[in-house]
Amino acid sequence: MSVLREEIETLQQNGITRVALPRIGDPSVIPLWFGEGDAVTADFIREAAKRAIDEGYTFYSHTRGRQDLRDAVKKYLDRLYGLDVDPDRVSIPGSSMLGITISAQMVLTTGHNALIVGPVWPNIENAYRVTGAEVSFVRQHASDRGWAIDVSDIIDAVKPNTKSIFVNSPCNPTGWVMKPDEQRELLEFCRKREILLIADEVYHRCVYGGEAAPSFLSIARDDDPVVIVSGFSKAWAMTGWRIGWVVAPSRWASRWAILAECFNTGATTFVQFGAIAALAQGEKVVAELREQYRKGRDIVTEILSPHPRIELLEPEGAFYAFPRVKGLKSSLAFAQGVLEEENVGIAPGYTFGPGNDEYFRLCFAQSHERLREGLQRVLRYIDRHPG
Ligand SMILES: Cc1ncc(COP(=O)(O)O)c(C=O)c1O
Repeated sequence: MSVLREEIETLQQNGITRVALPRIGDPSVIPLWFGEGDAVTADFIREAAKRAIDEGYTFYSHTRGRQDLRDAVKKYLDRLYGLDVDPDRVSIPGSSMLGITISAQMVLTTGHNALIVGPVWPNIENAYRVTGAEVSFVRQHASDRGWAIDVSDIIDAVKPNTKSIFVNSPCNPTGWVMKPDEQRELLEFCRKREILLIADEVYHRCVYGGEAAPSFLSIARDDDPVVIVSGFSKAWAMTGWRIGWVVAPSRWASRWAILAECFNTGATTFVQFGAIAALAQGEKVVAELREQYRKGRDIVTEILSPHPRIELLEPEGAFYAFPRVKGLKSSLAFAQGVLEEENVGIAPGYTFGPGNDEYFRLCFAQSHERLREGLQRVLRYIDRHPG
């Protein structure tokens, strides 16, 4: 008999690391498997964190984050969306991922259901499973206007014991972006049914038709059961910093502080100075990275779309392509084969929830020459393996 809880014993390693771990750091691999590019964080952000260390900011910070960073997040959100966010709604958990985990822990336990709008990044499923809740999925589908899902399909998938719904827009891996009227309809449902909506907006600045994706922040009231999760990893190229923010109902602020005590007792202090610099002076970086991602997206479309076995819907946001390879039997065997024979790292579709075993995900945030080379090699592999 195991001393581990059953929920922990049965957790699955995600398919991305399952493929990547044996070859991680191998310089002969073109790594399109993880959600990051190869650009190092901008100098002025690194300098701000270095300065903080040199000035002695090596102590604990407030468990909901330094006040000056929370104020900076509030100001940034006000500016971006034309709002006046109550500062008590903003907390800095450390990483956005930790923000999702804490949100899930706030409401879920054994006997509950959590509903995920898929395809979805696999860590989300595990963050829900750790609570003991049962997890179910409702899937976006291919349409003439790209990836799409009707809100009525999400609502129909809700069970009597559903206590949380997870929506990630712009979506990893499909690039789907939820429209404001769809957000409104879902929010009203969650409000009525008192279901916690976790709105993962980590890719809010990675959109290809504007400055920012539509946000639940623009419509959520302080008394709504909604946590909007976002962060620095993607738009400012700060994946290794493990820093993000959440906007939650202000009445939960004290609960958030208590939970944070037992997860990390607050985010790393000097990292928060880098985050402040990113918000204060980082708009140019955000725009440049977005432009780089946009070109990466164009390269993917140009190279993959003409192939007769590939079905590719152009992503509206995030920085992934999620192509279907017609006739694929196993996305895991495919990703492992591409790695072994062509030295390109991609993520197998199966790990993004049910219905995705004919798909693979690649990240187009890498520099363009490497990306081109990686894509050519994937096609070469497909042509060598017709069945
Ligand atoms: C959909 C989604 N949510 C959350 C995260 C976590 O972001 P962070 O690095 O800020 O923890 C990621 C990272 O890839 C992601 O793709």
